[in-house]
Amino acid sequence: MTPKNKQHLEKAQTLIPWGTQTNAKRINPDWQGMPPFIKRAKGCRMWDLDDREYIDYRCSLGPIILGYQYDAVDEAVREQMQNGVLFSMASPIELNAAQAIIKNVPWIEQIRFMKTGADACTACTRLARSYTGRDHILTSGYHGYHDWFALNWPNSGVPGSLREFIHDIPYGDVDAVDRVFDSYGDHLAAAIVEPYDWNETVGKEYLQHLRQRCDAGGTLLIFDEVLTGFRLGRGGAQEYFGITPDLAAYAKAIANGYPVSAFAGKKKYMQTLEKTIITITHGGETLSLAACKATMKIIRDEPVHDHINAIGKRLRDGFAEIIKETGVPAHAGGLDPAPFIIFDDQDENRNIEWQNKLFSKLYQKGIFANHRWFISYSHREADIDETLEKMRAAFQEIFSL
Ligand SMILES: Cc1ncc(COP(=O)(O)O)c(C=O)c1O
Repeated sequence: MTPKNKQHLEKAQTLIPWGTQTNAKRINPDWQGMPPFIKRAKGCRMWDLDDREYIDYRCSLGPIILGYQYDAVDEAVREQMQNGVLFSMASPIELNAAQAIIKNVPWIEQIRFMKTGADACTACTRLARSYTGRDHILTSGYHGYHDWFALNWPNSGVPGSLREFIHDIPYGDVDAVDRVFDSYGDHLAAAIVEPYDWNETVGKEYLQHLRQRCDAGGTLLIFDEVLTGFRLGRGGAQEYFGITPDLAAYAKAIANGYPVSAFAGKKKYMQTLEKTIITITHGGETLSLAACKATMKIIRDEPVHDHINAIGKRLRDGFAEIIKETGVPAHAGGLDPAPFIIFDDQDENRNIEWQNKLFSKLYQKGIFANHRWFISYSHREADIDETLEKMRAAFQEIFSL
């Protein structure tokens, strides 16, 4: 870490626990050269405190779907700013943003806005519990930091007694689905799952099975589309897998980085809001909703996902070629919008060591990535080719080829 970054990080850590607001932005000491701070980003590139440039494949952990500082989105925000940020009553932009989302995700009948992914997931589970009058929840994947989900984290600060109601299963595990439904079926309010976990398994049958068990048991199926929504395709995982949940949570790519999330679904379930209360002060904040409306329009009118898929495929094919050329035990995988490269040595420790070396090398060469390489509409073929060149060089250096 350069002296400037080190000094800034130390100061930040004295005032801000972790030095950041987000777990995934904490410094990983095994990945040398990871910049702790980014001061500017544009398109698919970003610059750290020392003005070092990176091609970014984290996309702010998912929200950046079009690219940083995307002109049409930022222009819509500036225009909205002329009228105000938050009012004493609802703003017309709330309806406009709702309509814009539903044009892309037509299964949605009603929608409400929140601020974070965790908010949206919690709202879905609250509605399901209120609608069914049941307490138990099947979960799979990550759903944010709220109490009902963070139960098993170390020193979680959440009463252990709540564990009774939450049944966590691994992605794609149909037997685990059956076990939970067989044991708690009549008490299960909802199954809330990440519909795709960005790994090897693409679980259409798993989702179908969940749909069937929910239908048979009077349990609501909730898709946590916080990461899949507007990234896996225009209509998210619901469209990709052709399986429709009862409720869903959306957040990250909904407004190209502006802070807004949503919970949405079939009117029958959303109408539970007539008898229960979910309310937040900043839910109608207009700048993010203007960004959401503009993002939705671009996603609808332009070949955003065709581009993302083609570029992601180019990256994954390039990874596979490097692996073939070098003979390193590894493989490339992942769906087009988020490819990955994984080492496959029999010794798991060696895989971790290689992975740490690879990310350290990539940061030093100006490529900012993590396990999943997210693609935005602003990544171009030339960016991919530059990335692959640097990946090839990193392989040569690590494996002394
Ligand atoms: C699938 C999923 N659900 C929920 C969340 C929580 O979102 P937030 O951090 O905005 O609360 C995340 C965040 O990474 C996520 O990936």
